[in-house]
Amino acid sequence: MLTLNDISKNVIDMQYEVRGALVTRAGQMEKEGRTIVKCNLGNPQELGQRPLSYLRQVLALVTSPDLIGTSIKDQNGNEVIHADLHQRARTIIDITRTVGRYTESAGLEYVRRQVAEFITRRDSIPASPDMIMLTDGASPAVKSVLQAIISSPKTGIMIPVPRYPLYSASITALGGQAVGYYLDEEHDWETNVAEMERAYSEAKKRGIDIKALVVINPGNPTGDVLPEHDIIDTIKFAQEHNLTILADEVYQDNIFNGNKFYSFAKHVLELKADDVSLFSFHSGSKAVGECGLRMGYMEMRNIPTEVYDQMVKIQSVSLCANHIGQVAMGLMVTPPRPGEASFTIYDREYKELQRNLEEKAKLMYEGINRIPGMHTAEIQGAMYAFPHLDLPAGKTDVDYCTTLLEETGILFVPGSGFGQRAGTNHFRTTLLPPKAELASMLSKLEKFHKVFVA
Ligand SMILES: Cc1ncc(COP(=O)(O)O)c(C=O)c1O
Repeated sequence: MLTLNDISKNVIDMQYEVRGALVTRAGQMEKEGRTIVKCNLGNPQELGQRPLSYLRQVLALVTSPDLIGTSIKDQNGNEVIHADLHQRARTIIDITRTVGRYTESAGLEYVRRQVAEFITRRDSIPASPDMIMLTDGASPAVKSVLQAIISSPKTGIMIPVPRYPLYSASITALGGQAVGYYLDEEHDWETNVAEMERAYSEAKKRGIDIKALVVINPGNPTGDVLPEHDIIDTIKFAQEHNLTILADEVYQDNIFNGNKFYSFAKHVLELKADDVSLFSFHSGSKAVGECGLRMGYMEMRNIPTEVYDQMVKIQSVSLCANHIGQVAMGLMVTPPRPGEASFTIYDREYKELQRNLEEKAKLMYEGINRIPGMHTAEIQGAMYAFPHLDLPAGKTDVDYCTTLLEETGILFVPGSGFGQRAGTNHFRTTLLPPKAELASMLSKLEKFHKVFVA
């Protein structure tokens, strides 16, 4: 029989805290009838966010093409699905025939073209469908790049700390070395080139062969949006040390308080940094909250064709990304336009979704910073806060989050699950619970905190 001794050490060593022991305990508590406030995972629909109607309606028609052109009325006699969406579904089916077949490994060409046009609209830069791959969300895309790059136990990948555990877990599983560089909490979790240089040179001294640098913008777990000068400095740092950049931009549509998203692709091009290879990742999980559809893409720049072919080969081992997810990605980057019948509903739903998250970011920021001994930087984007906790000597953020869960049912992820400077304590919370629930969560947290630190 297969025993734990037979399992790869890399797999055993791999940690993925956002679904770790506390989550298991919360599951048990739920079975015992306790209510859990799930602030542990950026999973919007789990917490009640509604999908965008146009996207689901086109998918409904595309997955059941016999319904295309059929009138479906609501209780008031109004058409549920507007004619422009029936037309869209017809066009998709004419191109792709059926979502029940495998596609080409890199993904449907017409969707890759739509994605390239989206990048051009977003950044006013040229983009090629031949350098885009459609993927089952950003996670497998990231893993495929790491798989391609990690070639020995000495291969190093620089990752931000606090980090999103996808990176640390995948690097461990693939047998490479994660080289952490700290983000600057004092300055809204920005990147800092001096700190990157420190991390780089210390790892070099240990004989690590650093090949790539990961940047997450907007940040998870930190909720920061990188200013343009950080992006430029990071590209120059990568150029100087011949590092490939992995730019995780899955939260690019979740931006608050007038902050602005700048892509790495635009700046690599503007800096004429033709010798810096760049992989940029985007996903439908956060932009439109469709985590379960597993839709994403990866755009590559300054990558030789032979390397691109290797990336496609890796994807071809899984045949292709989920076909429905590919169609959904095409829909995400081509929402209804003014003048189309479905535009009004789309516009209302999308703005509501954005406004709701922004309001919750404000509520969270004010609620956390009201509590003595707790502080969060401005929540500029993404869907998280990563507050700093002052705790009594001998207490850790794991103690804090464990006791909090047992006593109140609030589920956070301890900061140690993401990495943090030695001697500091944090937790990560999502902004996702409905507003009323968030307000009551914050007041329970305040009461709990006062007792815990007393
Ligand atoms: C920074 C970051 N990258 C990637 C992902 C995974 O995205 P996907 O659902 O597209 O795999 C997440 C999910 O929370 C994330 O926070």
